[in-house]
This record gives sequence, C-alpha cells and structure tokens, in this order.
Amino acid sequence: MLMASAIANAQFTIINPSSSFDSHGYIGLRPTQPSNLKLSSNRTTSTNLLRPLHLFAVRASDSHNGNHAGPLHKLGLSDAECEAAVVAGNVPEAPPVPPKPASPVGTPVVPSLPLNRRPRRNRRTPALREAFQETTISPANFVYPLFIHEGEEDTPIGAMPGCYRLGWRHGLVQEVAKARDVGVNSVVLFPKIPDALKSPTGNEAYNDNGLVPRSIRLLKDKFPDLVIYTDVALDPYSSDGHDGIVREDGVIMNDETVHQLCKQAVSQARAGADVVSPSDMMDGRVGAMRAALDAEGFHHVSIMSYTAKYASSFYGPFREALDSNPRFGDKKTYQMNPANYREALTEMREDESEGADILLVKPGLPYLDIIRLLRDNSPLPIAAYQVSGEYSMIKAGGALKMIDEEKVMMESLLCLRRAGADIILTYFALQAARSLCGEKR
Ligand code: PBG
Repeated sequence: MLMASAIANAQFTIINPSSSFDSHGYIGLRPTQPSNLKLSSNRTTSTNLLRPLHLFAVRASDSHNGNHAGPLHKLGLSDAECEAAVVAGNVPEAPPVPPKPASPVGTPVVPSLPLNRRPRRNRRTPALREAFQETTISPANFVYPLFIHEGEEDTPIGAMPGCYRLGWRHGLVQEVAKARDVGVNSVVLFPKIPDALKSPTGNEAYNDNGLVPRSIRLLKDKFPDLVIYTDVALDPYSSDGHDGIVREDGVIMNDETVHQLCKQAVSQARAGADVVSPSDMMDGRVGAMRAALDAEGFHHVSIMSYTAKYASSFYGPFREALDSNPRFGDKKTYQMNPANYREALTEMREDESEGADILLVKPGLPYLDIIRLLRDNSPLPIAAYQVSGEYSMIKAGGALKMIDEEKVMMESLLCLRRAGADIILTYFALQAARSLCGEKR
C-alpha cells in the first residue's frame, strides 16, 4: 500500500518592497496597493513521495531542511484511516522541535524573572504587531493645504521645501489631480492676495470673483466630488496682516470682524465650498456664520472651527508663504496662550453650542494633549493641523540627514491620529499618501 501523503501548504507572505517605512510597525491601511499582498503558493510536485516507515510526511514548507521538493500528494485516505494509522503507532513525520537559539558567548546566566506578564510577547513578530495595532492611518484622513496665487507659474516657498504657491489655473489643478491619485480627496485653500487688493477691512475676502471663489469653481468643475475646505479669516486680505479689523489703538474689533467673516464664508459657500473653516479666533463667529449660511440656503455647508488655535511661533513659514505677517504687534489678543489647557474646553463648549461640525486643534504635535482633551470631551470629529513650522522642521532635519524624513513624517502623522485626530491638515498629505500606497518619489 502506498503510504505517503502530504498536506499541501500555501505560504502567505506580505511583501512591501518599496516603502522605506516600517509598515508592519505602523500602517493599518494600504488602500491602493493590491500588488503588495502576494499570496505565494509554494505548492510544487513532490518527487520524493515515498518515505519508508512513515505513513505521512507532513511538511510545514518545502524549504524546510532544504532538500525536499515540496508537500507530498494526498493519498485519498479517509479521516478514519488517518486516525487509525496514528492509533496504530504509525505517527506521521513532522518537522522536529526547533533547537534553542544560542546566546552570544559571555551572556550572563541568570534565573528568569518571575513575570506573569511580559508585554513584549505581543510585539514579537510583524504579524502580531500588525494584529494588535491600535491606530491606523489612511490617505482619507488627510486634508491637503494648498497655497494659490494669481500667477501662471508655481513659485517655490523658501521656508517650506517642497511647497509652492500654485498658479490657480494650472499648478493647483495638477496638484489636486496628483493627490486624488493616491486617495487624498480633501484640500484647503490659502490665497496669496496682491498687496493692492488688501485693505484695513479686508473686503476682498468676500469678492465673489476673488482668487478663492474662482479657484473653488474651477476645482469643482474639474473634480465634482473633491471636498473643498476654505480658510475664513481676514489676514491674507488685511493691509495690517491681522485676522480681524484693527482699531486705531491696535485693538482687534470682534463683532465687526465677525460681520466680515460671515460675508466671506457665504461667498465661499456660493462658489461651492464644502467646509468653511474659521481660523480667526474671534468670539461668536461660528454661531454667526451658521446663521448667515443658513439664511442663504447653505444648510449643507459644514463649519470646521479652529477651536483651539494657539498664538504659536510654529506659523512662521506659513506667514512667509502668504506674506501675511502682522504689520505690528502679535496675535495674542485672539489666539490662545500656549500655556493654557483648560481654556480649550471653554472654546470647545462655545463651538459645540454654536453649531460647529468639526473641532480643530492647531498646531499639532506640540499640542497632542489638547487633541486628546477635545477627543475625550466632545463627540464631534476632531481635526489636527500639522502646521508649517512642524513641516519645515522635519524637512530640514531630513535634508541635513539628522533624521529619516520619511519615517519621522509617518510617525508624526500616526501620533496625531493616536492622540485622537480624525483628520489631519498636513503639507505632507501627498508625500505621506504616496508612502502609504507604496510609491516612492
Ligand atoms: C491665519 C492662518 C494661519 C495659519 C493658517 N491660517 C497663520 C496665522 O494664524 O498667523 C497657519 C498655518 C501654518 O502655519 O501652517 N488665519
């Protein structure tokens, strides 16, 4: 009687050849990379079916011991016949118990610590780590901030390597197409306004034919399902470089500014914006904006409020990009004091009761505690803004070869997610999405 058989084994191997990022450690989703998941079946025809004295030869893989061509053929035995063989003492062959790996010479011989919990067990292999990964990140979580200008060429931004002021008719459209290719379908627009159009009251902010509304209309025409976020604040339009109207004595006028912001938000909504995002930090602007939008029939337009926006020095490169540095003073009478934590709850309660749809924390990485605070205290989606200074530091560290840019980028984004951010506004959106998709530039 022929007495050899085998269980055919297929080996499942996840191959991630191109990404320099340790995907096993961090990434949960690789949306557009079907080719990365390779099922390599190691079924091959065995030429060594007969093994004397053994009923079955069961192999874990054809590479075991190196000298066998592969799994053995089935013999068509019933379960009962297989069991009977074992009961009769004809136990099939299986690979031997593996030897204990050797330690280096000189390793101290010590008694094992009496631990009943060793957390390293769950981190032992890539598959275990992937199984127990708590946080995932995908291109769908990214909102890509884009700088636009009236010019036809794209102008590099010195303080933000890899970022450009994009020509609204060409570069902008191309950049959005690239982002959509790798699953980033949300953008937020920041305009560089010609000085001649800036004024103390920032009226250009609600010009229906201004740079932002024109760009929105163009993008919606080309990509109807693109999600367009807009920035609502006066600073790009203000001859003073402040987010609000500045009184003679330097005071930023709250309620008068809110009036302007409402007109700006409605103008953006009219052009087709999906989410208007007040970044000005005036009091009461979310409620006023909700009412203004609803009065014009824009019930479907969302408000992402910059709930906790701090008076941060991390915004430096952005202000260079838009030439929007305040002409005098600072923004400390409206943006929050970086020393404050509880105050974020006050802002959160206001924004919630005024009807905000999304709460944003800005900057991102230095303010993880604030992201977690809002995540734990509000059911609303939370956004984090990884701002220009954070981006440029990683870029600079990478360029100087002091850090691995790609890995630090992915880690910083994952940490923002872990802290509780649903979405992340990041200048890395395209680069990170490409990395997640296994592409390398
Ligand atoms: C202004 C605005 C700023 C940023 C976004 N909107 C700068 C500021 O408050 O002065 C900064 C974004 C960044 O640094 O990436 N409304």
